[in-house]
Formats: sequence, C-alpha cells, structure tokens
Amino acid sequence: MKTRSRHLCTACGFTTARWVGKCPSCGAWGTLEAELAGETACRTTAGAEPVRLAEIDTGGEDRAVSGCGEFDRVLGGGLVGGAVVLIGGSPGVGKSTLLLQVAAAVAGTGRSVLYVSGEESAQQLRLRAERLEVAESGLEVLIATDLANIESALERLRPTLAVIDSVQTVRTVEAEASPGSITQVRECTRRLAELAKRTGTAALLVGHVTKDGSLAGPKVVEHIVDTVLMFEGETTSPLKVLRAVKNRYGSTNEVGLFEMTAAGLRETPSPTGLLPEAGAEEVEGTAVCCAVEGTRPLFLEVQALVAPTPFAAPRRVAGGVEANRLHLLLAVLEQRAGIRLGARDVYVNVAGGVRITEPAADLAVAMAVASSWLEVPLPRSTVVFGEVGLTGEVRPVHQTERRLEEAARLGFGQAVVAARNVPARPPLAVQGVQSLHEAVGLLRRSAGTTKERVGRDHGDD
Ligand code: TYD
Ligand code: MG
Repeated sequence: MKTRSRHLCTACGFTTARWVGKCPSCGAWGTLEAELAGETACRTTAGAEPVRLAEIDTGGEDRAVSGCGEFDRVLGGGLVGGAVVLIGGSPGVGKSTLLLQVAAAVAGTGRSVLYVSGEESAQQLRLRAERLEVAESGLEVLIATDLANIESALERLRPTLAVIDSVQTVRTVEAEASPGSITQVRECTRRLAELAKRTGTAALLVGHVTKDGSLAGPKVVEHIVDTVLMFEGETTSPLKVLRAVKNRYGSTNEVGLFEMTAAGLRETPSPTGLLPEAGAEEVEGTAVCCAVEGTRPLFLEVQALVAPTPFAAPRRVAGGVEANRLHLLLAVLEQRAGIRLGARDVYVNVAGGVRITEPAADLAVAMAVASSWLEVPLPRSTVVFGEVGLTGEVRPVHQTERRLEEAARLGFGQAVVAARNVPARPPLAVQGVQSLHEAVGLLRRSAGTTKERVGRDHGDD
C-alpha cells in the first residue's frame, strides 16, 4: 500500500495534507510535523480467512488478579494477558504510587513483573518502594526512555505484567519528533501495544493529562489501547477515584476508591469520611446524595452557597458536578420552583473532591441550592436522590432499593426520592416527590415552622 505523508500539529493533533506555518486549529506557530499516514491501515496479511465466531479459541480468559481489590474491580476482574491499559491523571495524583503497589502485589504472587520508569531514578524507586513496604517483592526495575531498550527487555523477560511510567518519556529514534510530542507518544504506544499483544504481557501505561484534562495530547492514544482508566482526586483531599472510561474487557462505569496515606494508597471500598459527622449541627446549603458509581452506592455531601452578586453577570461555579448540568438545574429551579437566582452567585461543590457523574445527583444539587437560598437546612439524616427533568419533574432512578438499603444501614433516617421510586416496604422513611416544586415545598414548609424565618422574602430580585 502506498503511504502518503500528512502533517500533524503536535500541540492539538490537527492534521492537514499540506504543511502550513500556523496551525489552523489551535493557532500555534511551527508545530506542524510530517508523519507517514496509512501504515497502520495496511496490516492485514494476504490470505486472511474469515472464521466462525463460535469456533474461536479464547485460550480460556486468564486474568492476573493483582490482589488489589479496588484496582481489579475497575478492570472488570483483573488484568487480561496482552491487555494494554492506559492510566491517566494529573501530576501528583498518585499514578506511580498506585502502579508500584499493583506491580509489587502481582510480583509478590510469584509472577514476573517489569517496572519501567523514565521519570525517576532507580534510587528514587527503591526509596518509594521502601516507604510502601514492597521493596522485597521480586519486582524487576528498568530505568529507560529509549523504546528499543524497553522492547528488548520485554522480549527477553516476557513478564506477566509490565508498567511503563510514563508514555510521555518513551521515545524512538524512528519518529523524528521530540519526546512527549504527539507523534512520539502515538508511535511508542502503538509499538508497545503490538508487543504486548504478541507476547501476552499485560501492559500498564501511565499517561499524563494535559491542562484541559485530555490524555497525552488530544486522544491520540485512546483508540490504540484496550482500556483507559483515569485516576482522579484533589491534591487537598486524600480520597482518590480510579475510573474506567473505556474498557474492552469489562464495564466502563466501575470506580475504585483509594485513600492516600503516609504509607501509600489504601483501599477504601466504602468511605464514610465524606459525610458530615453524625452529631454535627445542621447547616443550610447541604444535601447528601446517594450516587451509584459503577455498581456501588456512594454517599456524598453536595454543598451550595447562594449569595448576592457584586458582578453584572452572576457567577456559577461547579465543583464535582458538571457545569452545564448545574446551569440546567438552576434554570429549572428558577422557572419551576420559584427560586429566583437572577442576581445571585451560585457555588456548588461536592465534599471530598469527588466528581459525580450520575443524574441521580440532580435532586441533591437542586435541594442544596434551594436550601441555601431559603436559608433552611435539610434534616441532617436525610438522603436525597432523583433525576430532574426540564419540566421540573423528579424522575425515578435505577437501583433505588439498593440505595435505600445502604442508606438505612449507614443510619440515615429518611430519604427524598421520585414518587415512582417509593418501594412498598421501604427500609427507612421515604418521602416521594413528583416535582422539584414539591421537593422545595418540603423545605419551605419547614421554613414556615421556624418563627424567625416567617415573612422572610426574596422579593428583591
Ligand atoms: P505519585 O505517585 O508520584 O504521583 P504521580 O505519579 O501521579 O505524579 O505521588 C503522588 C503524591 O502522593 C506525592 O505528592 C506524594 C504523595 N505520597 C504519599 O502521600 N504517600 C506515599 O506513600 C507516597 C509514595 C506518595
Ligand atoms: Mg509519577
């Protein structure tokens, strides 16, 4: 097959047939590089024959279980031989710590594991391993950045598991671009993936994320690998969440939960430290939500602050929830529940630096905002979940019974959920609501019973 050269912007991934000085997509100067296109498209060999799906030998899917339950859970039950897994996350989140612990755990079961680092020296790795108490695990370490060296070590050792920390530091002389550039990262990832597939080694690749949160430059490697995991967490909070965003070997909505301690990452399958303390005073502007991330109910506190704005255009700040979702909920609160937010700033945050992706959090976000606006707290032991629609209806969510059971187990006294979600025999007091208006009405009613708040009016806006 004839190959044709094209030009690729190393800053944003834009491609064009013709070389230009300034990238038409991101506006950067001098970032376009020539690369050969079409080489990956011509890998089919002559004489390839179709086979019946039912007759394909899977070789008995053999998963290497790392012994780190939260990690295996996110992968869908452990590492598959030949699988290529990319782990993304911002610098300092704990990727190297996690992978060193996983690598040592697998090595501890007697299988061969190679940890390749291009970021740290052998001494640094050894010191880190000592701090994590895994220095005696039998793990092999290679400090290298040259792809040829890494490939030959992998060919020689044929380990069960290989960690490459990170893909941005690996380079090959065959691609004429600087280390970390898109051309280098893509070519090295492709070659490592091919090697892993051929030798049956499971490969864990670390990828740093860019400022806008995308992996290793714009998505250039996501389609080369089998699985993409993101390691998330605020630097100020010990809680870290490992989330599958693409998985050829399992479900993609599973999450693993860890806590960063002085002795490395500790698994925390059900963190309750994210919830307000039992005896704590009730404050307005908070609502506890039960979100099912993957298959596990997670209880998180949503906090909101509504304040008069000093700006011409009020500010809306979303932490842990999607900004567009917050805008939508604020519009629904305004139009369907009489919560006037026109001249007010709204700040929303999920305690603990966790990100909620489930729509079931809608009701908790809306109730937290309404609670702050009305200056009425929700009762402390209330859990709230439900999706909010554009007409202001509160819609049912899946796995309601599991959420309620877990809430009862954790000691919550009542739940506010969609009316259609109220089970026949609930394990705790359940208040069903049809609409956001009705849900906010619960708060207004308790406002009415508090004498000092009677007559308090937001008629100013
Ligand atoms: P690291 O794993 O190097 O992050 P990444 O590879 O994603 O850049 O480490 C993240 C942070 O974790 C670092 O700032 C120090 C901290 N840390 C601990 O708190 N405890 C530990 O045992 C280790 C090894 C690191
Ligand atoms: Mg690192």
